[in-house]
Amino acid sequence: MDNKNYYITTPIYYPSGNPHMGHAYSSIIADVFARFKRLDGYNVFFLTGTDEHGLKIQKSAEKNNKKPKDFCDNISKIFKNLTKSLNLSNDDFIRTTEERHHKAVQFLWEKLQSKGYIYLSKYKGWYSVSDEAYYNEDEIAEKDGKKISTISGSLVDWVEEESFFFKLSSFQNKLLEFYNKNPKFILPISRKNEVISFVKRGLKDLSVSRKSFSWGIKVPNDKKHIIYVWLDALTNYISALNYPNLEDKLFKNFWPATLHIIGKDILRFHAIYWPAFLLAADIKPPNRVYGHGWILSDKEKMSKSKGNILDPLEVIKIYGLDQLRYYLVKEVSFGNDGNISDKNIENCINSDLANNYGNFCQRTFSFVEKNCKNTVPSDIDFNPEDLKILNSFNNNIDKIRSLMDNQQLNEYIKFIIDKSSNANKYFNDEAPWNKKDDKKRLNTIVYVSLEIIRKISILLLPVIPCSANKALTYLGLNTKTLKLSSITDHLINKPGTKIINQGILFQKVEKNND
Ligand code: MSP
Repeated sequence: MDNKNYYITTPIYYPSGNPHMGHAYSSIIADVFARFKRLDGYNVFFLTGTDEHGLKIQKSAEKNNKKPKDFCDNISKIFKNLTKSLNLSNDDFIRTTEERHHKAVQFLWEKLQSKGYIYLSKYKGWYSVSDEAYYNEDEIAEKDGKKISTISGSLVDWVEEESFFFKLSSFQNKLLEFYNKNPKFILPISRKNEVISFVKRGLKDLSVSRKSFSWGIKVPNDKKHIIYVWLDALTNYISALNYPNLEDKLFKNFWPATLHIIGKDILRFHAIYWPAFLLAADIKPPNRVYGHGWILSDKEKMSKSKGNILDPLEVIKIYGLDQLRYYLVKEVSFGNDGNISDKNIENCINSDLANNYGNFCQRTFSFVEKNCKNTVPSDIDFNPEDLKILNSFNNNIDKIRSLMDNQQLNEYIKFIIDKSSNANKYFNDEAPWNKKDDKKRLNTIVYVSLEIIRKISILLLPVIPCSANKALTYLGLNTKTLKLSSITDHLINKPGTKIINQGILFQKVEKNND
């Protein structure tokens, strides 16, 4: 049976500092998938939010002379505002300091405990506050006289304290079996292999509570301990669905999640700990975890300490939101790291948006204005060339769906670019300006061109919602009711419909010379 529900999440962000391009990237990517599935008639639930507990946040708050909750309220609001600035279509925004989340985490803890998966012992080992992660001895190196994690490069401290443990070791085989049965649980494949070899090397029990600080959710029945921030944070994906109420409509419809979009640095938590916690609590693990690469600034991961933070709002101010969204989807090879620079973003805007799709829209709209009284022409007769270009959409709808279901974002964009190039070529080859004596042919070329604008714009709606929406409204269409499947129709622009061209869609950008 075709399940028409689709649940997609972003990581929940640490409100320890202002959002940067890396955060914007995870969110935009998730938004593209959410919008695509809605367009395809799915019932979508798209979740994002902030991860507000733990030592990292407590320390950031102290540095700013603020109480952790006040500190989080402030920065969480900035992340929430960013969802508007990025035009995200999220259905909810969860904060881990909310009551609904506390209840879910404590319930899950009790469930794990009642099933015998939690015991009290002592933790002795390395801990990175900035990653909120424990590291094994073989993952530690020395740099400039300080101990760091070889996995993330972050500083680590030696920690010794009483702690509750989760019996992760007893999930090694269950996890391997689960990966085996669900070969697309972790994507891209290269990351899946990393995870599997890590699990095969053996899993140690995981420390899941801390005693030496207080900013977090208390362990039920032992108020001296607070729950490990990753057990707390991961639970957001179900607390937003009203877990532990398993009969709740949201939980029933949307769990297991279809897709967790995350960065590669937090794969271990999502692909090992999270399914283990869920299996232990008799809850189905999510269907897929996709670990994307990093957006590099000057070829390095952005971080406050490196001082190379790229602010998405700055980039939007210079180039525009859809331009940034398009760039991130098109120019970053999804799954791998990608760079962002003025030169790349300018080239991308000019070559794809202004000169290709934008140009095709513009020349068609201008031609319709001058030659067809700004009206969708009637009296048309398709020849084989017309049908070929129109059918190149119909015949590929299953391929398009499959690309998006397998997160092959770059191929999806490539399809659209190819279609835009073909459309420009069609317009040049057919040269409607030479057909003024053959009104029927001229009308048909114009009609086909408008149809192609409609089809391409529908495909672009998930990626550049504002601009694609604009193009579609020029065509007199209501995008709220449009469906992906309508790219297979040919006669959607009712002859006689008025075209309302309100100006060009994408300005070319002057190139930065440096
Ligand atoms: N709070 C945790 C996630 C908990 S999810 C249950 C966390 N937060 S974070 O704010 O540090 O990072 C959130 C996401 O942003 C991660 O997926 C991380 O990979 C991503 N990015 C952070 N810097 C990035 C880049 N420079 N590039 C792309 N994404 C990166 O981790």
